[in-house]
Amino acid sequence: MNTRTIRDLSPAEVQGKRALVRVDFNVPLTEDGQVGDDTRIRAAVPTIQALRKAGARVVLCSHLGRPKGGPDPKYTLAPVAPRLAELLGASVTFVPHVVGADAEAATRALTDGQVCLLENSRFEKGEEKNDPALAEAYAKLGDLYVNDAFGAAHRAHATTEGVARHLRPAVAGLLMEKELDYLGSALEKPKRPFIAILGGSKISGKIDVIEALLPKVDGILIGGAMACTFYKAMGFETGKSLVEADRVEMAADLMERAGFRLTLPHDATVAPAIAEGAKAHAVKRDAIPADEAMLDIGPDSATSYARAIASAKTIVWNGPMGVFETQPFDAGTAAVAKAMAEATAKGATTIIGGGDSAAAVEEAGLAARMSHVSTGGGASLEFLEGKVLPGVAALDRK
Ligand code: 3PG
Repeated sequence: MNTRTIRDLSPAEVQGKRALVRVDFNVPLTEDGQVGDDTRIRAAVPTIQALRKAGARVVLCSHLGRPKGGPDPKYTLAPVAPRLAELLGASVTFVPHVVGADAEAATRALTDGQVCLLENSRFEKGEEKNDPALAEAYAKLGDLYVNDAFGAAHRAHATTEGVARHLRPAVAGLLMEKELDYLGSALEKPKRPFIAILGGSKISGKIDVIEALLPKVDGILIGGAMACTFYKAMGFETGKSLVEADRVEMAADLMERAGFRLTLPHDATVAPAIAEGAKAHAVKRDAIPADEAMLDIGPDSATSYARAIASAKTIVWNGPMGVFETQPFDAGTAAVAKAMAEATAKGATTIIGGGDSAAAVEEAGLAARMSHVSTGGGASLEFLEGKVLPGVAALDRK
């Protein structure tokens, strides 16, 4: 990786300095305003601790949710501060300002090793517009900049991109480094066979990643409702399944170019509707009933996908195999998660590309058995698509 990281900083660049650290604390909050899932907070702890140990004064900033048009108490970052304090074993001052004189005063009141957390960056209208004046205002809150928010690195916002133009050094944190290392190594020097498993409902959201991965992988296994757009292109009845009519031609073209490297499920689990315990049954892919929809890959496909995973050395997975939130349509996703956990134990590198697939492995209790579970859904997808992530491009090179 040629992006400079906090490991490359000299003691003089950190000791006694205010490190403005962009983290991704975009975490779910419960109805009563508590942190619902602290995965992303835990993921930022190594960077924060490393900076504290080096004598930095740590100023954390993040977005949370998608507040529209200004401050909204529903999206305050305040509940994150006590949870972070527990994880750090140190106090964390919550600053109820995003930028400005009071925010700056709070950063200047820190002593070496102390931590504060600023209010939700999206409470400022200029954040998502990457407003240059706001970026300059952020720059007053730190002496150096650290970006550890891989999950937001695909956004060119004031806290992820604009501010990095004003503060030097501007380096990656340890989580950012780990994410880029895992995803980058999989793409650049994978142990082979290298397979990708791509699921989800729409081919339109995955076409760029399929195109980008095709020349690099030994095989792509398709799951989720997007398989039905391919089935349509093959001339099969797809019943009430989700099909993107305007992508059928594209699916046909893709199948022709990919040849044997693209695998579609041979069978499907179908039902008349998405409902817990719905009358689900497995059919061959060319026998989907006109009044039913494909809601998961079928059991034969789950078995053959598990076999393919077992024989691969690098596996990247993005997108569920079916409607995994509703039983029994979670079977295909669960089978893939289990096969990936077993492959990890046998020495394969297994990478979960954030979002729904990360949620599925978490729910199955298998997250710790993967080589890497990305904290970024959209960001990992864009990285796998070969796109430059603005939050990374803005950082110093080695
Ligand atoms: C995410 O949850 O994927 C990141 O935090 C980015 O959030 P956003 O999609 O609202 O920009």
